[in-house]
Amino acid sequence: MTKLGLGVLGVGRMGQRHAENIQSLVPGARLIAVADVDLDGARRLANALEIEHHHASIEALVERKDIDAVVIASPSRFHLSAVQAAAAAGKHIFCEKPLALTLEGVDQAILAAYEAKVLLQVGFMRRYDPAYAEAHKRIEAGEIGAPIIFRSIGRDREPPPLSFYESGSGTLFLDSSIHEFDLARWLMKDEVVDVHAFGGTLACPELSQFGELDAGTVNLRFSRGAIGNVESFRQSRYGYDIYTEVVGSKATLRIGYLQQTGFTILSGEGVTHDVVDHFLVRFAQAYLNELRDFVQSVLSDSPPKVTGDDARRALAIALAADRSCRDSCTVQVASQARTEPVRPVS
Ligand SMILES: NC(=O)c1ccc[n+]([C@@H]2O[C@H](COP(=O)([O-])OP(=O)(O)OC[C@H]3O[C@@H](n4cnc5c(N)ncnc54)[C@H](O)[C@@H]3O)[C@@H](O)[C@H]2O)c1
Repeated sequence: MTKLGLGVLGVGRMGQRHAENIQSLVPGARLIAVADVDLDGARRLANALEIEHHHASIEALVERKDIDAVVIASPSRFHLSAVQAAAAAGKHIFCEKPLALTLEGVDQAILAAYEAKVLLQVGFMRRYDPAYAEAHKRIEAGEIGAPIIFRSIGRDREPPPLSFYESGSGTLFLDSSIHEFDLARWLMKDEVVDVHAFGGTLACPELSQFGELDAGTVNLRFSRGAIGNVESFRQSRYGYDIYTEVVGSKATLRIGYLQQTGFTILSGEGVTHDVVDHFLVRFAQAYLNELRDFVQSVLSDSPPKVTGDDARRALAIALAADRSCRDSCTVQVASQARTEPVRPVS
C-alpha cells in the first residue's frame, strides 16, 4: 500500500507530538518533512526523528510533491493562512483547534478546502479519547436517557509559556474552553444557544499584559432547554484535571480521572497518589487516534469525523463567551453554520 506523505507545520509542543506520532505510530503514513519559522527548531526535530527535510514555511512544505497532507500546529492566528496555502496546493489538511480566530476566518478555511476538494479535519482530540468515546457511545445508545445537564472542567497545572501568548494562540475561551464547548455539543447531541460567562486574571498576573484570562466559567443553555457549565483554569498547581459529567433523565455519566496510575500510598500521613500533569500525557492516546483516523479517512476517501462545521460551531460558542464576559451579559450564540463538503471529491 502506498503511504500517505505527511508534513507537519509548527514544531512546538503540539506539532512535535504529532510529528513523533506520525513518524512511528500511524499506519499508512510517512513523515516527509517538518516546517517552522524557527528553522533551527525544525532542523532539530527533523534530526531527532531522522527525516531528511525541514523547511521554514508552509509554502515550502506544500510545494513538495511527496507530501499529500499537512498537519497544522502553528499558532492559532496563522491557521487560516496555512489552511489556504495547503488547500491551494491540493493537500489534505489536519488543523489544530481553533481552525481560525473568527467565524469569517473559519468560513474561508472551509471554503478553501471545499474548492480544492481536500479533506479538512480539526483537532478536537477529546472525541478520540477512549473514555470520552465510550461516553458518547453510551449516550447514543440511550443509556442515560435525555441529556439534561452538562458540566465540564479543564484545569492546567500551569499556564502555557508566555511565548504561547506572544504568538497569539488565542484567549482562554478560544484556546482552552473550546474543547469543552465541542464536547458539550457532541455529548449533549444539541446546540448551545445562549451563554453567560465570567472570567478574570486571578492567579497569573503575568497574563494581564496580554489581556488574557486565567480563569473562566461559562453557563450554557441548549436549544432543547438543557443546561450546562464549563470551567477553565490555567493554574491548578496540583495537576492536569479534566472532568466531565453528563446528567441524563435515566442515568449520569462521569468522565475523568486525576490519577495517572493505579498506584496509591495509604499511610498515617494520609492517602497519596500520582497525578496526570499535562495534556500530552492525559490525551496521548487521543492524539494518536485522531491522526490515525485522519490518515485512514484520506486513504479511504471517507468523510472526517471532526469537521470544519464542528470547528465553526465550537468557535461560535467561544466567541459568545468572550463577549459575554467582556460585556457582562447573556449572549446568543451565532446560530447559522455553513454547510461544507465532508468528502473529498476525487
Ligand atoms: N489539541 C490540543 O490539545 C492542543 C494542545 C496544545 C496546543 N494546541 C494548538 O496547537 C497550536 C500550537 O500550539 P503549541 O502549544 O504547540 O504552541 P507552541 O508555541 O509550543 O509552538 C508553536 C510553534 O509554531 C511556530 N510558529 C510560529 N509562527 C509560525 C508560522 N507562521 N508558521 C509556522 N510555524 C510557526 C513556533 O516557532 C513554534 O515552534 C495552537 O493552535 C494550539 O491551540 C492544541
